[in-house]
Amino acid sequence: MSVCTLIIDGHNIAIASDATILDAAKEVGIDIPKLCYLEGLSSVGACRLCMVEVTGENKLLAACVTTVQEGMEIQTQTPKLQNYRRMTVEMLFAEGNHVCSFCVANGNCELQDMAVTVGMDHSRFPYQFPTRSIDVSHSQFGIDRNRCILCTRCVRVCDEIEGAHVWDVANRGDQCDIIAGLDQPWGEVSACTSCGKCVDACPTGAIFRQGTTTGEKERDRSKLEFLVNARQNQEWSR
Ligand code: FES
Repeated sequence: MSVCTLIIDGHNIAIASDATILDAAKEVGIDIPKLCYLEGLSSVGACRLCMVEVTGENKLLAACVTTVQEGMEIQTQTPKLQNYRRMTVEMLFAEGNHVCSFCVANGNCELQDMAVTVGMDHSRFPYQFPTRSIDVSHSQFGIDRNRCILCTRCVRVCDEIEGAHVWDVANRGDQCDIIAGLDQPWGEVSACTSCGKCVDACPTGAIFRQGTTTGEKERDRSKLEFLVNARQNQEWSR
């Protein structure tokens, strides 16, 4: 395995050449903001919060999907990046209907936490107030697409960990939506195993357990961690 040496926020580091900038930052204890990334799942670079500056590059790079290179000099916390991240969170809030005061994830929401992290207290962009569908046809769970930030964690966890591929992304631009099955009511999708991994992976209150009310959503990420580790260690094929 070859190794790259690079500098990240002034820290010299040597790391495997197939690592990402996000891995390198983690190695030296730097926490880069992220919303679509979830350890154990593939990375898609959807949320653009993990953007970093790399000397010699004329554009920002997404740390979760950019592999390290020998001699890279990376900045993760410049004023330009802080402004950019705040603007990204403002756009996420303006694009959906994120009314924390009656959301199931209030107080336990990664988008809400991110707003605090980047210092966002209002959005400078016009609120779109979309009217997206809510589907509670499943016997245990529900999805409120108004709270979805299209991180696609649900799509990836269902496909890559559960192997059911119930979720997918339909349409483009502001019509983009998470759909179940062939754009069916969730409760009619026979591939769904009712495992609840999409509920645990969802960073907001978009996918929830029925019966939870304001601020009651809880996630069990230890289940995902257990499954990912067991697979990596091939615990079931020995
Ligand atoms: Fe990298 Fe979302 S965490 S783009």
